[in-house]
Amino acid sequence: MRMYDIIQKKKDGLALTEEEIRFFTEGYTKGDIPDYQAAALCMAIYFKGMSPDETAALTFAIRDSGDRLDFSDIKGIRADKHSTGGVGDKTSLIVAPLVASCGVTVAKITGRALGHTGGTVDKLESIPGMRTSLSEQEFVEIANKVGVCMIGQSREIAPADKKLYALRDVTATVDCIPLIVSSIMGKKLAADDDCIVLDVKTGSGSFMKTLEESRTLARIMVDIGNKAGKKTMALITDMDVPLGFAIGNALEVMESIRTLKGEGPEDLTQLCIILASSMLHLADRGTIEECVELVKDALYSGRALEKFREMISAQGGNPKVIDHFSDFGAVPEKHIVRAPRSGYIYSVNTAQIGETSLLLGAGRNTVEDSIDPMAGIILLKKTGDQVTAGDPIAELYTWKKNILPRAEEMFLASTFISDIQPEAKPLVFDIIK
Ligand code: URA
Repeated sequence: MRMYDIIQKKKDGLALTEEEIRFFTEGYTKGDIPDYQAAALCMAIYFKGMSPDETAALTFAIRDSGDRLDFSDIKGIRADKHSTGGVGDKTSLIVAPLVASCGVTVAKITGRALGHTGGTVDKLESIPGMRTSLSEQEFVEIANKVGVCMIGQSREIAPADKKLYALRDVTATVDCIPLIVSSIMGKKLAADDDCIVLDVKTGSGSFMKTLEESRTLARIMVDIGNKAGKKTMALITDMDVPLGFAIGNALEVMESIRTLKGEGPEDLTQLCIILASSMLHLADRGTIEECVELVKDALYSGRALEKFREMISAQGGNPKVIDHFSDFGAVPEKHIVRAPRSGYIYSVNTAQIGETSLLLGAGRNTVEDSIDPMAGIILLKKTGDQVTAGDPIAELYTWKKNILPRAEEMFLASTFISDIQPEAKPLVFDIIK
């Protein structure tokens, strides 16, 4: 078999066989197939697409390119959620303790921030002392004792994706449905969960800009998850505006704590209730309506907050941050951004708001970049809100004072103020089972 022929075949719009797909992922992972041939194949896939069978074959080949995790020592049903990536998306921090406090285990391998989207591990690491790198034995022990544990990736999971994602990032082939599906599901299926709820984002802050594309992406991911024997469903949710008000690591953990205290922003609270109840429903804890009631009880009784406290303590973090935000450490002075004119916030470029937060120090451009846990943005006004010229619309936090003028300019360029009030959008557009 020759890589040249595989590229030629896809360029001609023909379907690749499972054998050809595995030849590619195995050869590329080992370094036998060079980047230029892998890039050519990604571009051919971008233009000619892949059938559902080819996409499934690529997903399973990526899953099998590295270690498969074995959670069989973790008691009970294991449920997970995965977001396709967004700005201000801190739902995992809230949903995981919510679900655990309802008796379903969440043993979660979480990712780091890259590009304009944030990563749960970086958020957790903003809690002083918090360990996100644990041995497998410790991970299993905490998951069994507390019911929830969240760590970063330690073993070599889906190395084919690691190489492919970096290559796609520099060859303009990220926004391609079969490549996104195989990248996300290849990693998800390497973990050993029984149920998976996918939060497929749609809008200006996500990879999928239209509802139709998001629906297609969700349908293919759900079918592949079910085919692999995991109970899988997807929610298509709004990412045309950041979720909640906080963007940045410690700022998002603080907002998550407020939400677990029942004092969170409406959009974030509602989405967390929907995601957590969907996970419980997949884990056979009742109808969706019954699971919504279970989740609300866990949230408003404070049980989920206590579960989060237990998890922080078990992972070496300082649980006092829950009661005293000053225990997160010193916060840089805030810089207020004001509305340049009167009107309504008509729309925002959410990805660009994510880029602004990255510039302030909350994200990373390359995996080696370090993160400032206290940097970020607090939105004071969101899409649909009325503003008068000069009103504060956001607070920027950074220790790098010299970049503030550029960050403010970027933030303002991402915010479109109009005389017309935009129509309100739903939080969840569709559910794909
Ligand atoms: N997240 C991933 O892990 N892979 C993609 O291709 C897109 C989002």
